[in-house]
Formats: sequence, structure tokens, C-alpha cells
Amino acid sequence: MAAPAPDGGPITTPGLRIMPLGTMPLGTMPLGTMLLPDPAATEALAERIAAVAVRHDVIALWGGLGTGKTVFARAFIRARTNRNEEVPSPTFTLVQTYPVPSPPGCLIYHFDLYRVEGPEEAWDLGFDEALADGVSLIEWPDRLGSLLPQDRLDIRLERGATATCRTATVSGSPGWQSRLREAGLA
Ligand SMILES: Nc1ncnc2c1ncn2[C@@H]1O[C@H](COP(=O)(O)OP(=O)(O)O)[C@@H](O)[C@H]1O
Ligand SMILES: [Mg+2]
Repeated sequence: MAAPAPDGGPITTPGLRIMPLGTMPLGTMPLGTMLLPDPAATEALAERIAAVAVRHDVIALWGGLGTGKTVFARAFIRARTNRNEEVPSPTFTLVQTYPVPSPPGCLIYHFDLYRVEGPEEAWDLGFDEALADGVSLIEWPDRLGSLLPQDRLDIRLERGATATCRTATVSGSPGWQSRLREAGLA
């Protein structure tokens, strides 16, 4: 339980981890945490979310290096294009786009913002177009700072107990909850 500090200073709760603003998914509600025992489980999660994704969606992929953000994005993109689609990590290109058959004219934008210097540089990679016409998958979304849209799905990937185990913590803005229920995920 939080206890008011006797000197009127900040209220602290033992054991509570305070994260700096900007690294925390703001504006989204927790929808659940799932265990992903191997890469196939991460791919299956991505495929189920891909099945309910629509134009204008923003999916922020949080997590450190090697946690599976690109594995997730690749499976998502293949689910909406074709299973053999070449999906390189956008480590150096920073963004890759993929036309999808449905809805017509829609593109998936796969961003990797690890190397960008700040929110403006990240935004200049084509976020206007991505938000207007596409579906956005964003690795290292913290780089967008306050430009990260509030209306989004957050997937936080973390390493688990074994080398191939990950956990995915999912939170979403209102609207995502019903869609994830439809996907059998909430
Ligand atoms: N459960 C898992 N989910 C996703 N990737 C996993 C899992 N277990 C092991 N891996 C491995 O971890 C690596 C994740 O790489 P990648 O997706 O490129 O990470 P990131 O994009 O987060 O830096 C891949 O080599 C993948 O095979
Ligand atoms: Mg990656």
C-alpha cells in the first residue's frame, strides 16, 4: 500500500518500479499476459492479431534486443501477404512497406526506430502516410516520444525462464479489447 511521506514529499510504494515517462505504454489498458514457449507461439500470436488488424492500426512492439519483435512482425506481415514473403529486419532501412491484398491500397509499414535520433526523425520516415493509409508495426516505439499515437495496441515482449521462452504483455486502447476477444486473445 502506498503511504504518504511524513514530510509531505513524494508518495512511495516499496517494490514499485518507477519507469521514466516515454518508456511506458501510456493510453492503453492491460488486456493480459501470455507465455510464448517458443518462436512458433510468438508467430501464432502475431497471426491472430493480424487477422483482426485494420487500416489505421498502430501496433507498438516493446522489448529489448532479441526479444522477438521482428519475429512477431514477420509473422504478422506474412499472414496478411503470403507465407513466403521476404521480410528483412528494417535495422538499416528503418522502414519497409508491404502492400496487402485486403483492404485494397493498404500497406503495412514495418518500422525499426532503434537507430533514430529523436521523435522528429522517426516521424519523417513516413508516419503521416502510415497513419492515414496503412497498418503500422513499430519496433522501438519509445523513440517516437509523445508522437506515438495514443490509439494503439502495445505488445511488450520479455525473456522468460528458458532460452526460447518469452512473455507478451498486451494492452490496448478502447476498441482493441473487443477485437482481441474476437481473436480469442482477451
Ligand atoms: N519465444 C520466442 N519468440 C520469439 N523469438 C524467439 C523465441 N525464442 C527464441 N527466439 C529467438 O529470438 C530471436 C529474436 O530475434 P528478433 O525477432 O530479431 O528480436 P528483436 O527484433 O526483438 O531484436 C530469434 O533468433 C528467435 O528465433
Ligand atoms: Mg528487430
